[in-house]
Amino acid sequence: MQVYLNGNFVAEESAAISIDDRGFLFADGVYEVVHVYGRTLFEWDLHMARLQESLRGIELPVVDLAQLHNVAEHLVSGLGESEDEASLYLQITRGAHRRSHGFPPLGSTEPTILMWVRPTVAISQQTIEEGVSMISVPDDRWAKVWIKTVGLLPNVLAKHKAQQAGAFDAIFIRDGMVTEATSANLFIVKDGVLHTAPITNYILPGITRQVVLEIAATNGLPIDLKPFSYEDLLAADEAFLTGTLTEVLPIREVDGHLVRQASGPIARQLLTELHRRAGKSGK
Ligand SMILES: Cc1ncc(COP(=O)(O)O)c(C=O)c1O
Repeated sequence: MQVYLNGNFVAEESAAISIDDRGFLFADGVYEVVHVYGRTLFEWDLHMARLQESLRGIELPVVDLAQLHNVAEHLVSGLGESEDEASLYLQITRGAHRRSHGFPPLGSTEPTILMWVRPTVAISQQTIEEGVSMISVPDDRWAKVWIKTVGLLPNVLAKHKAQQAGAFDAIFIRDGMVTEATSANLFIVKDGVLHTAPITNYILPGITRQVVLEIAATNGLPIDLKPFSYEDLLAADEAFLTGTLTEVLPIREVDGHLVRQASGPIARQLLTELHRRAGKSGK
């Protein structure tokens, strides 16, 4: 497979990054994941807008969006005929420089830009119908969760804890309120109203969250963007995750408590509409 690294398309096996890369040493970088349906980059512009925000958040305001788009299109064109779903990964770090916490002197290094496109397997119909099980964990992440940084260790540890408990994923709880999951936003439905955490510095502003809210508004579903508690989650009629590759994924249980309607009608409707918007047929 060919990947893009710092201006060149190279074979995956020969792509190499410096031991001084600040992404490697300090997690000093940001990333994006884009879902490729057919050969279309789903909501590219929204992802690029968020990328620019993340870059602003780490004071690395350098990005040639037109060039990134050309690179993305080139990588997508390398997909095989039968590879109709894929994910694009893009990472930008502050580049390589002799290890020191402070930023490298201006002009002394170029950002490291890495991009690949890999085929993905869609979440199975059975998983969607059954829903997934979740555990809750304290949200011990930092106060700039809105930056899509590659510094994901709290998320990694929480996901591992969930997997060790035989669950699919973990839900972060901050001061008794639900923030999100380790790589997805979280919605509940109560008495026909859709709830998800408001955009603050304590959640990642998910592109799928935004798209789902737009779809809900278009379909006349009532929306409430106030913080909701762990108890509200347990009392919900439906609960589901949203994410670029997660799409709309129903939750069956949380800490062993069954959600009233695993894979309920609103999650199903939103997933169908999301697929329609993405031009994905047959579901
Ligand atoms: C912590 C976190 N929250 C939410 C999301 C969902 O965001 P998106 O819908 O843009 O994929 C992600 C995606 O990776 C994430 O890592």
